[in-house]
This record gives sequence, structure tokens and C-alpha cells, in this order.
Amino acid sequence: MSRQLHLNLFLMSRGHHEGAWRHPGANHKALTDLELYVEAAHIAETAKFDAVFLADTLAAGNSSGLASSGSLEPIVLLSLLAAHTKKIGLIGTASTTYSLPYTLARQYATLDHLSKGRAGWNIVTSWAPEAGANYGLQQNVDHGDRYKLAEEFVEAVDALWKSFPSDAVVDDRDGGVYIDTNRLKPANYEGNHYRTKGPLNVPGSPQGRPVYIQAGQSDTGRAFAARWAEAIFTAHMAIESAKSFYSDVKNRAVAYGRRPDDIVVLPGISAAIGSTQKEAEQVWEELDALTSTDVGLTRLSARFGGHDFRHIPLDRPLTKDDFPDPNAVEASKSRVIGYVDMSLREKLTLRQLLRKLAGARGHLAVAGTPEAIADLVQEWFQSGAADGFNVMPPIINSQLSLFADEVVPILQKRGLFRLDYEGDTLRSHFGLAAVTGDSAFARSA
Ligand SMILES: Cc1cc2nc3c(=O)[nH]c(=O)nc-3n(C[C@H](O)[C@H](O)[C@H](O)COP(=O)(O)O)c2cc1C
Repeated sequence: MSRQLHLNLFLMSRGHHEGAWRHPGANHKALTDLELYVEAAHIAETAKFDAVFLADTLAAGNSSGLASSGSLEPIVLLSLLAAHTKKIGLIGTASTTYSLPYTLARQYATLDHLSKGRAGWNIVTSWAPEAGANYGLQQNVDHGDRYKLAEEFVEAVDALWKSFPSDAVVDDRDGGVYIDTNRLKPANYEGNHYRTKGPLNVPGSPQGRPVYIQAGQSDTGRAFAARWAEAIFTAHMAIESAKSFYSDVKNRAVAYGRRPDDIVVLPGISAAIGSTQKEAEQVWEELDALTSTDVGLTRLSARFGGHDFRHIPLDRPLTKDDFPDPNAVEASKSRVIGYVDMSLREKLTLRQLLRKLAGARGHLAVAGTPEAIADLVQEWFQSGAADGFNVMPPIINSQLSLFADEVVPILQKRGLFRLDYEGDTLRSHFGLAAVTGDSAFARSA
């Protein structure tokens, strides 16, 4: 079969646009209502999406009260979604800076068992400037140190996931032996920051272990992804930067002895869909009218680790001096490098920058007919910019349904996207082979 596209639903409250929570087309249910998430997951599963994905920031978010903020804890929510779905993958974000390996290894292995092999871990180091204080730290952990912790954290979790192979459970009721202890392999992991003995108390899960997903794209983030990631979430506003990212991470993976196909690269796409171009653009206009400069400024400031932009006039083109050195930003480093580059290249005013980011926070945000969106998806997929997309509907459910009902069938007709699931696990949806033995990585068949 020809190379197949991958589609994830990046499931975020009532939609990805800052103003979506107020839009009449958005799901009216409370953001704490399970049904809000179940309904969206069902739309994605009916359309044969690979997975639903939940982000997580470990801080309450926009403190102005003018934007929707707060989010449910991903692993608990995904456990419930596992019970309400059958095939779709379930990817949850968890931090390597503010968690412990043994706890996390248990939780994700449990989710993999309960969902019969549909779990994925989005490994993040947590950029939110408020996260440190929420976990009792005087000071946030610096960007470089966060990745040092992350390397050790994943080594520890990986060792734990190998420590209790599923074939150690013999469950021999006649002979009276439940576990063949000779098959256990205690992790005995000793790092500078994390230690764990093992074995884990959850046996090897249906996928061997949950799928490793990564979502940082700085230089250090890419090196980390090349070593560990089986899928990468990434943010690009133009095809050129997506292509260069795509070839860079695949080349880096090869340098680790892996194959380019061992990593599925998924940029975000936030598509406003209408039956005409004008109607689609109107969706963005309606949404823009529902947010405010204040919300945008608060969000921008958080990405830069607290830098204040309020003294800058809204309607003159931004200059380099309006920003702190993006390479010195300890918060969302790679994302703010993109913001500064784009602002200077396109000579944006602060107001224009805020409007661009209100839609999808630095991901590709477009408006078009279903045909036009399908063309764009195909172009990125076939020109070395993407293996698929993290679909970020500006409004959930209305714009999600349009993507599922109007764009997906076009992609299917073109032979680019599955008509039905061919396997039962996230690993099989992503085209990754099962993990066996001591291999840290899955290999695609
Ligand atoms: C689609 C996507 C989702 C992400 N989700 C999260 C998240 O839920 N929590 C988080 O702390 N970082 C998340 N990140 C990563 C941050 O945006 C940021 O890139 C990272 O924390 C900083 O590392 P970097 O400088 O290496 O990119 C996500 C990134 C992408 C592309």
C-alpha cells in the first residue's frame, strides 16, 4: 500500500482559537464535563483518526480571567476515554521535570493495558513559567537542565518498562506459580537525578510499552527526539520551516542508528473550513472578535517566560529590540524563536502578531474549502514536510466535524488516508512494529 497519512486530534477544550470558548458553534458543555471529550473523540474515531492527544501545562494558565484556562489531568481523562472508544490511540502529555519515573511508568503501562494497546506518552519538559512554583521550587528549572533531567527520566522509565516482561506472568493455577521470577529484570537505574530499582509492578503492556512521542523542537529538543521519539508533534507556520525540521530530525535519527521511518513527524494544522473561501475566513473573523488584546499579551508574555510587552505600541511594526533575545528565553524557547523570526520577516505590528497567535499559537492556521485544505495536507505530506498532522480545530465540535466529514473523505478518495483501522494499537496505526526484548525502539515493518 502507498504511504499513508496520519491524523491526530489535538483535543483542547472548546477549540484551539483563544475565542473559541465563547463561540456559539462550540460545544456548550463545561470544560470539566467528560461528555465534551467523549463527543470529540467519537467524531475522530468515526473518521479513523490515529489518536486523540491531550496537552498539559501544570499551571492554571491565563490569569486575567478573560480566557478559558485550566485543564483536566490527562491520564485520568484518557482512562475514561479508553472506556468510551475502541480503536483510536490515546496520547497524554506528562512532564519529565515534575513527575517521578516509577509513578509515570505505572500510569502509562496501566493505560496501555486498560485500552488494549492504545497508549502514547507525549514526553515534555514543561515550559510554563509558573510550573516550578507549583511544585515547590524557588526557581524554574532552566531549559538545558530540563532536557538533562528528561534524558535520565526516560532512561529510567524505559528500564522499568523492560523490567517486568509480560511473559513473566505464567498464571499457572494448577502448579501454583503466578510469576516466573527468573524472567524479571530489575531496572537498577542509577542516574544523577533519578534512581529506581524495579521491577515495575505492572507487567509489560500490549504494545510492549506505550509509544514515545516528543514535542520540543529546540536544538536540544531535536537531539532528544532523535534518540527517543517514535512520533513528534511540531509547530510550523510555513512549509519551508516544516521541511527543514522534517529532514533535520530524520537525519538526526539516522545518526542514532535508526531509520527515517522510525519517527512519524506531525505538524499542527488549525483549519477554518467553509463552503467558500470567504465563509472560511469569516470563521477566523468571528473568533478574533471574541478575544482581546489583553488575553493575547498575557499568553505572549508566558511563552517568553514573563517578559512584558504592554509598553509596545500596538500598531507599529515590531523590531528586534522589542523582544528579549529568544535564545536566552528559558520558557518556550523554540516557539518564541519562530515568533520573532516571523514578526521581523513579515514586518508585523504587535496587534497583528497577537492575532496570528490567537488562532493556533504558532502552528499553521489556514482558512479554506474542504478541497483546498485537503490539497494543502497533501502538499505537505508529499513534499517532505510531514508524515501527517496534529489536527487542531479552531472550534470543537463544529470545525472538527467539518474536517472529519468533509476533508477526510477527500483524503480517503485520493488514497492518502485509511478507510478503516487495520490494527488495534496506536503502534499499528502509526506503522510502528511491536517492541520486543531489549530494543528501545520500535521498527516499522
Ligand atoms: C503540538 C505540541 C504540543 C505540545 N504540548 C505541550 C504540553 O502539553 N506541555 C508542555 O509543557 N509542552 C508542550 N509542547 C512543547 C512546548 O511547546 C515547547 O516546545 C517545549 O516545552 C520547549 O522545548 P523546546 O524549546 O525544545 O521546544 C508541545 C509542543 C507541540 C508542538
